[in-house]
Amino acid sequence: MTTQFSVADIELTLHRYPNNQESNLQAWDAADEHLIKHVTEIAQPAVNTAIINDNFGALTASLTSMEQQWPMLVETDAKTSQLGILQNLAQNQLSSENIQWFNSRDIMPTSIELVLMKLPKNLTYFAHQLNRLSQVLPAGTQVFIGAKAKSINQSLLTLLAKNLGPASASLTWKKTRVITCVSDGNIRALPKSVNWSIPELTLEINNISNVFAASKLDIGARIMLDNMPKGDFTSIIDLGCGNGILGLHAKQVFPKAYIHFVDDSEMAVESARQNWQLNQLDTDGLVGEQATFDWDDCLTHLSEAIRPDLILCNPPFHQGEAITDHIAWQMFLQSWRALKNGGILHVVGNRHLAYHVKLQRIFKNCTTVASNGKFVILQAQKISKKAEVHEAELIEPSDIAENAQPSEPHPQSGLYGGKS
Ligand SMILES: C[S@@+](CC[C@H](N)C(=O)[O-])C[C@H]1O[C@@H](n2cnc3c(N)ncnc32)[C@H](O)[C@@H]1O
Repeated sequence: MTTQFSVADIELTLHRYPNNQESNLQAWDAADEHLIKHVTEIAQPAVNTAIINDNFGALTASLTSMEQQWPMLVETDAKTSQLGILQNLAQNQLSSENIQWFNSRDIMPTSIELVLMKLPKNLTYFAHQLNRLSQVLPAGTQVFIGAKAKSINQSLLTLLAKNLGPASASLTWKKTRVITCVSDGNIRALPKSVNWSIPELTLEINNISNVFAASKLDIGARIMLDNMPKGDFTSIIDLGCGNGILGLHAKQVFPKAYIHFVDDSEMAVESARQNWQLNQLDTDGLVGEQATFDWDDCLTHLSEAIRPDLILCNPPFHQGEAITDHIAWQMFLQSWRALKNGGILHVVGNRHLAYHVKLQRIFKNCTTVASNGKFVILQAQKISKKAEVHEAELIEPSDIAENAQPSEPHPQSGLYGGKS
């Protein structure tokens, strides 16, 4: 894997975030290179620029290295992107003082003169981002969008015209193109969130545009809802909460519990917050806030005051477009650290992902609670032991990845032995 980004006269060292993840993936792609090549070829002056969907800082660090004072507004929905951009600026001795940070719901200022953007995978979210831009960009403002050539077609150009202004694509370079869209100055209304319900649980769900399970319940989440753990839990984390479905139902099952929702996506955290209010889940007689909502990379910044006795987790198996198991790894490790002694991590996963290998390694125990043809629910308990002894026994994710034998049954977990 290369970490040396080299375009025009710009030389940077860039890592994905977190930078200890076991992956052969780069921190940027050819569409980032194409955007920066384009900016240098047109000798773009350092005007007030919005940078949108910069995964790990290739765009932000390139502009900063071209002109230290280049004024930038950086918009991202992902906490890991924000942390990755900061990490790569620091790694390249570049300042972040010229940056104003925005999430994808903040109202942007009207002072933006140029936009550099990566095409996200989720086109509903993309349309939402264009609508936001339409509210602040004066007519004639250029928006450069880097994308794989195969993702660009007439319907994408039509989507751009509908939501922001006329667009045309460059010639192909390294299988990518740069689309130039010119704002037509017409303000579009922001899209409404999508609503759906789970009648048997009397839950109403709102999903903002970049939230997992956009219009219906995920099948992994469904099997979790049908198999909630038994116990008298009082502090529960919904880790990677999405719209909050697992934590919302946990509150129905354990009314005395305080629920902590965490997600990398700011829109997910906001959806969970809205859904908590929508479903009026506060229980009479409990002191203080019964739910907290954190935009974070797993449990990296979890308050020391929160010591959960249950963590519910439907982990992601990709980061952006990259398939990876490092987030599941991080979620399991940080869960072990956060849980009270005796506390439980309750996980759902696609059978072939073999999460039992990781859980067994970290927790030294793992039980299959339920399974069907495709998914398994696994439970691991934090067993009282000196933390430092346990930490010393934890081995690197790479070792575990090599040792994982997803196709073989795991003797202690009883995996693959459940009903299917
Ligand atoms: C498979 S979805 C599960 C969503 C929801 N819990 C459900 O069951 O429908 C995984 C969630 O993990 C979130 N996620 C991805 N990377 C994360 C990270 N580093 N830290 C926290 N959450 C993350 C995603 O944004 C997504 O909402």
